[in-house]
Amino acid sequence: GLTLDPSSGIIRGTAPAVGTHRVTITATNARGSAAAEFRIVSGATLALTPPMGWNHWYAHYNRVTDALMRDAADVMVRSGMADAGYQYVSIDDCWMNAPQHSDPLRVGPLRDAQGNILPNTHFPSMRGLTDHIHALGLKAGIYTSPGRLTCAGFSGTLGHEEQDAKQFAAWGFDFLKYDWCSYTEVTGNNPDRAALRKPYEIMGKVLASQDRDIVLNLCQYGMGNVWEWGAAVGGQCWRTAGDLGFELDRIFEVALQNAEHRAWSGPGSWNDPDYIQIGYVGSAFTGGEPTPTPVPPRMQYVYMSLWSLMASPLFFSGDMNRLDPFTLNILCNPEVIEVNQDPLGQSAAMIPLDEETFVMVKEMEDGSKAVGFFNRDEIDRDLTASWSVLGLQGTHTLRDLWRQKDIGTAAGSLTYRVPARGVMFVRVRPLH
Ligand code: GAL
Repeated sequence: GLTLDPSSGIIRGTAPAVGTHRVTITATNARGSAAAEFRIVSGATLALTPPMGWNHWYAHYNRVTDALMRDAADVMVRSGMADAGYQYVSIDDCWMNAPQHSDPLRVGPLRDAQGNILPNTHFPSMRGLTDHIHALGLKAGIYTSPGRLTCAGFSGTLGHEEQDAKQFAAWGFDFLKYDWCSYTEVTGNNPDRAALRKPYEIMGKVLASQDRDIVLNLCQYGMGNVWEWGAAVGGQCWRTAGDLGFELDRIFEVALQNAEHRAWSGPGSWNDPDYIQIGYVGSAFTGGEPTPTPVPPRMQYVYMSLWSLMASPLFFSGDMNRLDPFTLNILCNPEVIEVNQDPLGQSAAMIPLDEETFVMVKEMEDGSKAVGFFNRDEIDRDLTASWSVLGLQGTHTLRDLWRQKDIGTAAGSLTYRVPARGVMFVRVRPLH
C-alpha cells in the first residue's frame, strides 16, 4: 500500500498490515550508491521514536500566521532539516480568536453557531495549510488547552473536546499539544492525580476514536509526575517541567531533572524537556522578535547532546528564516540524531564523575553505546570514565559523533579533555 517517489524520497500511502515490514532503499547520485534497510512498523503505538519537528512558539509567539507556517515547512525541506528527520510543522498558541488582544485580527467570535472552533483572520484556511505541509512530505501539528482559554488568552477546548478533536482530524492535523493553562479554573488549586489526569484522558479517548493518527503531547509542566501516567491516558510525550525559554541559563539543571525520569522512556512514551532554542529566538520574557540565542556555542553542543541521549522529542523552535550554517550543523548532525532516534528508545543513565562532571550512557539497539562526557565547570577538565563505570568489557572502537570521525580503539577506560561547559560525545562499539 506504500509507494516511494524516487525524486523526493517521500513515501506515501496507507499503513500496511500490522507488523514489521523490512525494505531496502537505495540512493544513487553522481558519487555512487548507498543502500540501507528500513523498518516500516505498523500498529497501534504512535511515535515509536521521539517526534522531531519545528514549533513556532519561541520564534513568533502571538505573531504567528499561516504564511509563517508555510514558510517554515518550505525551509524544513530546503534547508535539509527534513532529510535529517525533522517532520512535524507545529502551530502553537494564538491561531484561534481571543476575547481581547492587541492585534484586532486575532479578536472575533470564538466559535460558530454550531460550536465549531474558529481560526483567526491570520489563518484563512487550515485545510489549505495542512495540504501545503503534507504535499512536502511533512506532518502538521496544532495546539489547544483543555481550559476555557489558552495560556495566551485564546479560545480553549473546554466542553468541546470531541468536536475539536474531530475538527483537527478533518483539517488534517497529525499532532496535538494539549496545554493545561486555565484548566485550574475547573479543578481548583492543588488538584489530585485523578483531577490532573481527567482532561488528558478525555482528549486521549476522543483522539483515538478519530480515523487519523494524531500524536498527543501533554503539556502541564510535570504536575503529578505526569511521566508515570502520560502513556496510560493516551499521550505519547509529556513536558516534564515549565517553559525552558525562561531557563536557558540552566540547561544542565533542567536536563538532569528530566533525565531522572528515564524509566518511563521508550517507544511511544517520551519525556519532553521542551524545545531546542538556538539560532534566532525571541525572549520568553518579552515575547519579542527573534534575536541571536543566549545559549553560547559550546552549550549548544551540550544542549543537543543531552536531548539526544535522553531520547527527548526534538523540536527546533527558532526562526526558520534565519538559519545559519552553525545552527543547522547543531540541528542536523545525522550521527547525533541517530542516537536520539534509536529504536530501543532508552534514555541515558546519568553517572556523576564528580560535582561538576558526569557521563551519560545510552544503550543502542545494535549493542553499541552512546556516551556523553559533560563538564559543567567554568574551566576545561580532564574527564576519565572506566569500563566498569561505562558497563563495557574488552576493546571498543570509538567514533567522535560531533566531528563524525573514527578516533581509534580503547580498552579499560576513556579520558577526554572537555572544555568548560562543554561536551565530548562518542559512540563505542565492541571490536570483534
Ligand atoms: C505555555 C507552554 C508553552 C507555550 C505557551 C503558549 O504554557 O508551556 O510551551 O505553548 O504556553 O501560550
